[in-house]
Amino acid sequence: MSDIDPYAMLAADAVGGLSPYQPGMPPEVLEREYGIKNAIKLASNENPAAVPVSVNKAMQAVLEDVSRYPDGGGFALREALAKHLGVNADQLTLGNGSNDVLVLLAETFLNEQTAAVYDQHSFVVYRLVVQATGARALIAASNPTDHAQPLGHDLDAMRALVDETTRLVFIANPNNPTGTWVTGGALHAFLISLPAHVIVVVDEAYFEYAVGDDYPDTLSWLDEFPNLVLVRTFSKAYGLAAARVGYGISAPGVAELLNRVRQPFNVNSMAQAGAIAALKEQAWVAKSKLANTAGLHRLRQALERLGINSLPSRGNFLLAHIGPDAAECNEYLLRDGVIVRPVVNYGLSEYLRITVGTEVELDRLLVSMHRYRASIANKNL
Ligand SMILES: Cc1ncc(COP(=O)(O)O)c(C=O)c1O
Repeated sequence: MSDIDPYAMLAADAVGGLSPYQPGMPPEVLEREYGIKNAIKLASNENPAAVPVSVNKAMQAVLEDVSRYPDGGGFALREALAKHLGVNADQLTLGNGSNDVLVLLAETFLNEQTAAVYDQHSFVVYRLVVQATGARALIAASNPTDHAQPLGHDLDAMRALVDETTRLVFIANPNNPTGTWVTGGALHAFLISLPAHVIVVVDEAYFEYAVGDDYPDTLSWLDEFPNLVLVRTFSKAYGLAAARVGYGISAPGVAELLNRVRQPFNVNSMAQAGAIAALKEQAWVAKSKLANTAGLHRLRQALERLGINSLPSRGNFLLAHIGPDAAECNEYLLRDGVIVRPVVNYGLSEYLRITVGTEVELDRLLVSMHRYRASIANKNL
């Protein structure tokens, strides 16, 4: 019998069915395990650019005071964010990454008697946080592959699942791993259609990257919908994935509840200082967005030339339809030192998710992909 078994019996029921989140493989791990050098990672949707010096310096400066606890209320960061967003500081909830805010939402609003709705192919953390509370998961089927937003959220299907016990609905906009989005018109109509006992969580982790007039300005809807919670992060376009800072924006009453559940010091001092400095670097964020839009375009077209279709994306990644050989393709790329993201755990075994890296990184990926496709063609001769 394994050492763990007796303890598994002691775990809360909800934990029995959980499996841990699988992060993208770090380059060091690939290099160690495959005995290669100079691996690149296009697997976790990070900003590939080096962060501004001002951000690094702000974080380093805090190290001198590392013996002190952080500001548990995150006063300066909440003030800076409130000013940046045009909301009040009491509408904000800081998290150790936006993942933490998702956990807080589940802990605050869910229990065994309630339910949460999310899409079949939406960000996997929704499933994890819902399951951990013992709440019922109501999982909506995604759009079909021939839809304009293939495998994206079907808001009608999600609405149809909402019942008396539903407390949370999770919408990722754009969604990870599909990159698809819901338009302002559709989301607004969805919000209007819902009863007041349902909190709608719109996860906008990739907000700063999203282009297009049909992408909703949800911030301006907070007064109209007190049950709307927006979740954003410094991990993506702001380039602070390692720092772990995210936040919720909501009605003050909702934020007050989330802050009751929040750990007192969930966002460390370095992260708070880095986020404040990053907010002052809007020109850098805008440059990152432009680079991403160009990179997305280039990646999509280059893949298409290799006969690989990808889903439309408003994020900093593409979901590429490789086919039944996706695992083989992934293995080939790994041996070439290129880490992308298999999405088998999303029920998407024929796809690979690829983050828009730097131009040089995309060169590496495309050369490797080209060689893979050539090797397949040769095999089939
Ligand atoms: C849709 C979405 N939401 C939330 C997160 C969590 O990000 P973080 O906890 O780094 O803010 C991610 C990370 O990939 C994501 O893709």
